Amino acid sequence: MLIAGNWKMYKGPAETAEFCVELKRHAADLEGVDIAVCPPYASLAVAVQILAGTEIAVAAQNVHWEPEGAFTGEVSAPMLRELGVYGAIVGHSERRQLFGETDEGVARRIRAALDAGLSVIACVGETEAEREAGETEDVLRRQVSVLEAEDNLVLAYEPVWAIGTGKTATPEIAQEAHEFVKSLLDVPVLYGGSVKPENAGELLALPDVDGALVGGASLDVESFAAICLNATRPM
Ligand code: PGA
Repeated sequence: MLIAGNWKMYKGPAETAEFCVELKRHAADLEGVDIAVCPPYASLAVAVQILAGTEIAVAAQNVHWEPEGAFTGEVSAPMLRELGVYGAIVGHSERRQLFGETDEGVARRIRAALDAGLSVIACVGETEAEREAGETEDVLRRQVSVLEAEDNLVLAYEPVWAIGTGKTATPEIAQEAHEFVKSLLDVPVLYGGSVKPENAGELLALPDVDGALVGGASLDVESFAAICLNATRPM
């Protein structure tokens, strides 16, 4: 089980430091769960520093495909490696929807990250309109088709209509989508979209759910730790 906290554009270095110190206090209760926090770029270094020597990993929220170059605003995989970061989220729906990232660009970012030795959480998922139009499987097939199974690759199924909306996929919807995604690519699949302490147990108990990518509820250390605790229990 992997539980990753996607902080999005929240928490500068000072708040990150506070969070990581608190999270470390919970570490003993959370043995056996793989945990990652994904702060904004500006807060990665402090997170790596404070969590050094623990089992809690630090990942970025994106990564560019070139090792360096004239790409204003981008950060490369070797730079993240140098910082001590273990991996990166790639292809989050906010990147796709708000910043125009494409399946091909996402695939290039993932390739470069894996080649540089980073682990990758690659996000896929349909919008509400796509689900209503019966296109969920087509969208997932298209998004997954540019990827190949690799040891350090996990997918996150994040139905866009469930992200930050408080609407969680029902266990039936999540299980069906996870099973489908796994039939396309044989890698672990995390669920993401309004995961919180109250629904984590039910979602993590599904046969094809291998963990969670948590946004809003990962910003509070107690609620993040509570979600991680759900992953320690035999289900
Ligand atoms: P949410 O976000 O948990 O706030 O819905 C999930 C994500 O965007 O990864």
